Amino acid sequence: MKQVKMANNLHILILAAGKGTRMSSDTPKVMHTLAGIPMIDHVIAKAKLLRPFQISIMINKSLSGLKKKYPDVQMLLQEPQLGTGHAVQIFQKKNKLDNNSKLIVLYGDNPLIDLHDLKNMNEQLFKNDVVIMGFQPKINTGYGIVVENKGKVLKIVEFKDASAIQKKIKTCNSGIMAFSSKALKLVSQIKNNNAKKEFYLTDIVKLSKKYNHKIKLINAKDVKTALGINDMYELGVAETIMQNQLRKKAMKGGVQMIAPETVFLSKDTIFGKNVKIEPYVVIASKVKIGNDVVIHSFSHIEGAIIKNKVSIGPYARIRPGTVLENNSKIGNFVETKNSIINKNSKINHLSYVGDTTIEEDVNIGAGTITCNYDGVKKNKTLIKKGSFIGSNSSLVAPVTVGKNSIIGAGSVITKDVPDNTLALTRAKQKKVKLNKKKK
Ligand code: UD1
Ligand code: CA
Repeated sequence: MKQVKMANNLHILILAAGKGTRMSSDTPKVMHTLAGIPMIDHVIAKAKLLRPFQISIMINKSLSGLKKKYPDVQMLLQEPQLGTGHAVQIFQKKNKLDNNSKLIVLYGDNPLIDLHDLKNMNEQLFKNDVVIMGFQPKINTGYGIVVENKGKVLKIVEFKDASAIQKKIKTCNSGIMAFSSKALKLVSQIKNNNAKKEFYLTDIVKLSKKYNHKIKLINAKDVKTALGINDMYELGVAETIMQNQLRKKAMKGGVQMIAPETVFLSKDTIFGKNVKIEPYVVIASKVKIGNDVVIHSFSHIEGAIIKNKVSIGPYARIRPGTVLENNSKIGNFVETKNSIINKNSKINHLSYVGDTTIEEDVNIGAGTITCNYDGVKKNKTLIKKGSFIGSNSSLVAPVTVGKNSIIGAGSVITKDVPDNTLALTRAKQKKVKLNKKKK
């Protein structure tokens, strides 16, 4: 790929303050997740890859939590939200950009945008005052329309304001635009005389035309990457696109999937070598998988570290805080949470293991439950090296089972068990003769 001149006078502004009304949800639009990660995180990650001088985000009050997560990003509050042009007006007032500075505006609801396209846009900014990233969707579902005359861009007309003839134009505005500081000065002239009574950033194009600025239209390489997410349907479409990208990347990297279309990954999933995933598996966020791992069908994994030579499922639920060390095994209908399962240890069937450390070479029998919650607080269980927990046992935490000890099947263990000890609690079996007559 061509080396891009990385200008240290590049600013990136991500617009995320909009109400997101069309999502019909109390969650702010850009906080909805895509491949396990909030939409805005995808956009910020891409912005960072351009190595700009500064990243700013236009937020509303409900996004103030982002400040803590991104202390290196400038958060600007837009209240009330009077449109994308208004948002950039606020940015401009706060940041007095010098004459050499440039600004790329990204939309928080445009998370699939392609990095190569952004680099291309950055390149074009060296020769132009306004760069618009256009694309040609099959159907215009409400995108701004790029109006050209003899190959020269005249203006962008929002769908709601467009005439019937303009609605036939194929090239739409992806929302991604870039400006020289000269062009940026025109944002203060944007008015709100349009269908939505909003200040449209897109009006900067016709203003630039008036001042004879150089305007360049580039095309997104792939229509899919320009998709804007305004409602739950579009979020679903974007999820499908991203899942396909993630599956492809994983398989190209050596992960085997028998039915890839049934495997759901997160943007942050990390795979080692020789990993095999059977059909119907969900890998939610914050999962790291080592080498020679098999994940059998119908398993759900989240927030877990899985080391080498581990087997999971079928029908396993691996919850946050789980660490599966080398050569450990989690079988069917097993749930783990906040627990470390050390080397060569096995939980093969029907168990719940929470807030527990299982040392090496431990065998947990079918139906073992760690009773970690007393209704008030969570308590810890420690099962030391080489122990054997008989089937259908309850370990009432806080409790420790010593090294090389055995718990008899069906026990309720409430007190610590020393090393090399057999412990069992069991009601005596009664025998009562039945007085049934033969028929
Ligand atoms: C916008 C573009 C349209 C383009 C489409 C691409 C304008 C006027 N229109 O339309 O040409 O085809 O995106 O997806 O820009 N936002 C703010 N403050 C506001 C309003 C919006 O920060 O006052 C943010 C939103 O959070 C969102 C982004 O700007 O992330 C775009 O706003 P949205 O209302 O979704 O614009 P569209 O109608 O999709
Ligand atoms: Ca939008």
